[in-house]
Formats: sequence, structure tokens, C-alpha cells
Amino acid sequence: MSTRDSEYGGNDSELTAVVHDAAEIVTVEEDGSLGIYEDAAVAVVDGKVARIGATGPVTREYPPEDARLSVDASGKAVIPGFIDSHTHALFAGDRSDEFEAKLRGKTYQEILSEGGGILRTVRAVREASDEELLSNLVSQLDTMLAHGTTTVEIKSGYGLDTETELRMLKVIARADDRHAVDVIPTFMGAHAIPENRDADDYVDEVVEEQIPAVAEQGIAQFCDVFCEEGVFSVEQSRRVLRAGKEYGMTPKVHAEELAHIGGTQLAAELGATSADHLLYATEEDVEAVVESSVVPVLLPGTAFGLGAEFADARAFLDAGAPVAVATDFNPNCYSQSMGFAASLSCVEMGMTPAEALVAGTKHAGMALDMEDGSGTLQPGTSGDIAVLDAPSYVHVPYNFGVNAVETVLKGGEVVH
Ligand code: NIG
Ligand code: FE
Repeated sequence: MSTRDSEYGGNDSELTAVVHDAAEIVTVEEDGSLGIYEDAAVAVVDGKVARIGATGPVTREYPPEDARLSVDASGKAVIPGFIDSHTHALFAGDRSDEFEAKLRGKTYQEILSEGGGILRTVRAVREASDEELLSNLVSQLDTMLAHGTTTVEIKSGYGLDTETELRMLKVIARADDRHAVDVIPTFMGAHAIPENRDADDYVDEVVEEQIPAVAEQGIAQFCDVFCEEGVFSVEQSRRVLRAGKEYGMTPKVHAEELAHIGGTQLAAELGATSADHLLYATEEDVEAVVESSVVPVLLPGTAFGLGAEFADARAFLDAGAPVAVATDFNPNCYSQSMGFAASLSCVEMGMTPAEALVAGTKHAGMALDMEDGSGTLQPGTSGDIAVLDAPSYVHVPYNFGVNAVETVLKGGEVVH
């Protein structure tokens, strides 16, 4: 527990951790390429990355025996913790029977129009107590952390009334307080049209009642909308996102997930941080995203679960867009694993393992407006680190269906 203060840049600074003798340490550079250090160490001081490089020089400056925590990473790869930039991880109930129904040929829209899907989760969430919701979410965060996720965005949207939407956002805030994973909250009152409601009438409620109430509590950073055929039109989505913006919430859009209706152009028009899904995005959409600096967030798990065509990741990458990949973890896309999303990115969307890693780290941070170098493992950034039980970062997508992550550090503390 001793620290040699003078060597760490300030009298009160503490050598939080030294991860040493790693087979490789992977950082993400300014231009989005990977920096790969072999036989390497990373020193974390006061929770932030202080130095990365060859084990010899790093451990001479930052001796592992002086650190609060020393991790021998011999034979292992070390990567930035994942940032999962799109999830609906807070819910109640079970929809595994819908997975079977979809395998038998039922469509997502058919299930929703029969009162299943999102609407079924809404009923379960309304009936659940705050404590049940919190315990569900904490256990999901445990699973995500075990898979290397150190920051996650979570949307409301299973309340569809002011009271329950607020309840969800408060539970999300409590989970953030209590759990090592950092949680970024998004308000998504416009996730579905509640049963027996007219869409325009419900949009009035979201705009006039829900958004002001959420803003008053200051518990959502982003405002998202399901801009989709049979759900919210472009015009309705525009109303919701404009109102959110007026109240200080940055827009995000679920765009072209099941059909092409123009959600991507809306994201560009409003300067949204991200446009997500993009399965049916066109060439014009790719251009619009690049021109307006909207981050395309691709969610291959959803396409996999729906048996749908995957988004054209290459079109976005070749146009120079900072493609992010996230899990979309929700009852319709039941995977908390960024590693599985990376496997799908490579095998089904033609991304390289390096592109998939950057998509789940640096670019994911950009999709959440994180301007502090999150997801890069560069000096000065938070010591959010995943140590793999494998010698190369390539094992993240390569070892499909299995968790390659062994140890997770958040701010230099071992949290898994
Ligand atoms: O991103 N598309 C809307 N929302 C989720 C699905 C949520 C659900 O089915 O419960 C999605 O795929
Ligand atoms: Fe989603």
C-alpha cells in the first residue's frame, strides 16, 4: 500500500495500479487506428492512465510493488474497457417465447401489433416495484461488466407514461450510483405508442408533459425516438426531438431499423449525436451522416436476432464515418456481450477485428458525446481496462460465443 509520492507527479497522488508483462496492450489513437505495445505495462495513477509502454521502462518508473494493485498479465492482451452505446437494459418480465415465435416466422411488427414486444415489457415494468427494477438492472450490469463493459448507455421507454418513465430514469440513476459500470441515461418516452392511444395524442403527452418533467429532474442526457414505420413518423419524431433539445437533451434516433422512412436524414437535420440501427440506410443516408458528423451506431445483434439483413458497415466505414457498434441489449436482442457484437461485426458486416474494437470503444464514446478520450486508453484517460484470457485482442471477435474477458478495472480498481 506504500506509494512513492514524488515520483507520481504530486504529493497526494497514488499509484492505483500497474498491469505488467502483458503480451500486448492495445490503445486507440487519435486517427482511430490501434496502437499495439508488445510485452507491455500500463500504470494508472489516481485512476487515470499515466503511462503505457514496454514493461521494463514503465515498471522502473512505476514499480508494481508500490502500486495498490499489481496485475501480472503474462500471456494476456489488455484493451480499453468497452463502451456499450445503445441498450434498453432496464426491464422486467421474460419474452423468450417471442424468440420462439420469431423463429416460427412471426415478425417483430406482428408481435408488437398484438400487444406483445415493447408493450408487453411496458406492462411488466409498470407492475414491478422500484426495488425489483433496480435489482434486475444491477444484475444485468454485473453481466455486462464481466464481459468487459465499463460504460453503458441505458434508455427508458418501457414506461410510456410520465410516472413510469421518471421511475425508470431514477432507477437508472440509482444503479449508476451503486455499480462500478458508468451509466449514461437516455429518455425514450417515444419508444412505442401505448395501447389504446392515438400516436399524435401520445406525442403531445411526450412533448408537453414527459420531456418537461424529465428535464426538471435533470436525469437524462439524451432523448431518443423509435422513428419507424407503424411507430413514430419522421414528423412526430421531429417534434419529440426538438422538444427534447429545447429542454437540454441531445437527440438520438432509432433509424431505418425495420424499414426506410427517413430517420437518418432527421438525425442529420437535428444534429443528433447518433443515428442507430441503419439496416435500411441508403447511400444518401451515408452521405448525410458523414456531412453532419452524426455517429452511425450499428447493432448487429438485433439483425441477428431478427434474422434480418445486417447494416452495411462498409459503406459507412469507406465514407470515413466513425462507426460505433453496440449490443442493443433488450428483450428482443438478448445479448449483453460486446464481444459477440464484435464477432457479428467481423463475420456478418465485413469489419476487421481492429475496426470492431474501435467501434466498441473510442467511436462508442463519440456516440455518447464523451469528449475525454474515453475508450482509448491514452495517457490522461480513465483507467478503464479489460484484461483478456488470450494473447491478442483479436480473440474478442475470434472466440465467438465465449467471453474472452478475464479481469476488468474501472478507474484502475479491479471491479471484476
Ligand atoms: O432497438 N427498436 C426499438 N427498440 C428496441 C427493441 C425494444 C424491444 O423490443 O423491447 C431496439 O431494437
Ligand atoms: Fe434500441
